[in-house]
Amino acid sequence: MVHTKDLLDIRPSDEGDARHVRFPGELSESVSMLDFKNDRLKLFSVGAGNMDTPEGEALIKSFDGDTPFTKLVVYSHNDNDAWKKLGFAYEGVIKGYFRDGGAAHLWARYSEDARGEEDDTSDLDEIVTLASAKEVQEPSIPQEISTRLATEADAERLAALLNHTFDEYPKELTGESIRKMILSLRAVYRVATTADGSIVACAAVELDLGNRNGEVTECATHEDYQGQGLMAYLIRELERDIGNRFGITDLYSTARAHEVGMNMVLAKLGYEYTGRQINNCRMPRGWESMNIWCRSMA
Ligand SMILES: CC(C)(COP(=O)(O)OP(=O)(O)OC[C@H]1O[C@@H](n2cnc3c(N)ncnc32)[C@H](O)[C@@H]1OP(=O)(O)O)[C@@H](O)C(=O)NCCC(=O)NCCS
Repeated sequence: MVHTKDLLDIRPSDEGDARHVRFPGELSESVSMLDFKNDRLKLFSVGAGNMDTPEGEALIKSFDGDTPFTKLVVYSHNDNDAWKKLGFAYEGVIKGYFRDGGAAHLWARYSEDARGEEDDTSDLDEIVTLASAKEVQEPSIPQEISTRLATEADAERLAALLNHTFDEYPKELTGESIRKMILSLRAVYRVATTADGSIVACAAVELDLGNRNGEVTECATHEDYQGQGLMAYLIRELERDIGNRFGITDLYSTARAHEVGMNMVLAKLGYEYTGRQINNCRMPRGWESMNIWCRSMA
């Protein structure tokens, strides 16, 4: 158990930039995530009532003090206004997030005002409007491109493509970290290749087998191959992969709010826009807001 007063003493472990901890008392039912890379603390499956306890109050108090975390995100079963009274803002919903099929309502609280502010949302709203108007279509790719599931033998090349694409990313992207994700079944990757076997696009679904959901992530198409349907095709195939293999039918993705292409891809695959996480993680533009898109295949 981690006492909230000890939050400042917790450091990243050898496992990477994120650490999972269990807070005491009323907060002990689920594991929380300390995300050092993105200065973010995530609490899963707690209700506003859990905060009205000595442990909850201590956590909120410590969060307002000298903390390494400037964003606190709660994945809550409910969207009631009790969170607002605690100073949280509603950022959106991930449908079908929990094992019982219930949605996760995302409430955020910022310890620095600047972290909670997005300069101009009209451009971002326009991207969502443009994407949402897109017709749902079944993707196809050029004949000379092949796709397949990635194995641990692809890990270094996946890392190379992702690091070529992203100067900054919310988590570690090394061959070793990707190899571990694949081998431990925490993620399923797919790649698109050219005739000579070069990997020109990749995407993954990160699995939450406990909650029975999957997050579409690590989407990158090499710039020479963009706009040919590769990403949409890979994601559609991944949906089938994890449906067949794990019976998971609820997927979501958080797309960079400023990146037109990724929002278009999700919209044309039938994903529904369900909110925006403000300055959510470190990306190539600095702190970037992420649009939430959900799809149920049930
Ligand atoms: C986002 C990305 C993965 C898309 O890959 P892709 O293989 O080009 O995707 P697709 O070809 O399947 O679809 C892209 C769609 O966006 C559309 N699009 C892209 N830029 C657009 C723009 N500025 N305005 C309107 N539509 C745009 C394309 O026309 C295409 O739709 P269409 O098939 O209906 O024509 C790729 O651009 C990329 O790697 N970007 C950099 C990394 C990144 O930001 N990844 C997302 C992280 S959340």
